[in-house]
Amino acid sequence: MTTAIIGAGAIGSVLAANFVRGGEDVVLASRSLKHAQAVADNVGARASTVADAITEADKVVFAVWFDVAKDLLARYAGKLGGKTIIDPSNPVTVDGDGGFTKTIARDESAGQVLAALVPADARFAKAFGTQSAPTLAGGSGHRPPTAQFHATDHKEAGAAVAELIKTGGYAPVLIGGIDQSIRIEVFGDLHETTLGSTVTEGEAKKLI
Ligand SMILES: NC(=O)c1ccc[n+]([C@@H]2O[C@H](COP(=O)([O-])OP(=O)(O)OC[C@H]3O[C@@H](n4cnc5c(N)ncnc54)[C@H](OP(=O)(O)O)[C@@H]3O)[C@@H](O)[C@H]2O)c1
Repeated sequence: MTTAIIGAGAIGSVLAANFVRGGEDVVLASRSLKHAQAVADNVGARASTVADAITEADKVVFAVWFDVAKDLLARYAGKLGGKTIIDPSNPVTVDGDGGFTKTIARDESAGQVLAALVPADARFAKAFGTQSAPTLAGGSGHRPPTAQFHATDHKEAGAAVAELIKTGGYAPVLIGGIDQSIRIEVFGDLHETTLGSTVTEGEAKKLI
């Protein structure tokens, strides 16, 4: 099983390191193959072009900003059939006042917007965007494990993402379908910035 991570920045590099540590075959891609290769070398993953990384993977994490994810889903639609697509994005931008503001309507989620853009035979899931990159890095491998929430409309994708969450060193907690994505994005009630800390699987299950 191979996971492609598109985006080798803050989130992509943490996920790549954690998945490799858990035994996953990981191929990284970004705008710059040189950058993806440098990050891959650092964490023990492989690097490739976006097209080739998607082609060889069964799971594709789009660790890029929301608008970039929209573009890439359209550009690579022909290669995404049959794959599990994982979205960690938060639809936010800096507000110029030290905080963040949403770039889509308050009652919309990036998960729902992006899920509507994937090919009918791809399986979409929301995961890995609930915590900051440093929290995500520090929370891997804890005993008891820290929870990672996920949401999907597809049973098979739910199972694949739950397995990947475990590989990354966390406990998977399914919160429901993609219509629940908003709860685990920035400003949602299960997002780190609202909860104020990581939670264990047991604590997480009481919150959903
Ligand atoms: N940072 C966090 O703490 C955090 C927490 C939760 C969720 N998220 C979400 O995770 C996503 C990624 O955030 P980040 O902080 O990791 O961003 P980042 O550090 O800015 O990294 C973005 C990555 O996207 C790549 N990229 C940009 N355009 C691309 C394209 N056209 N094709 C392929 N790759 C492209 C960049 O490539 P190059 O390296 O080649 O420039 C870069 O590696 C965002 O949606 C964000 O909302 C972030």
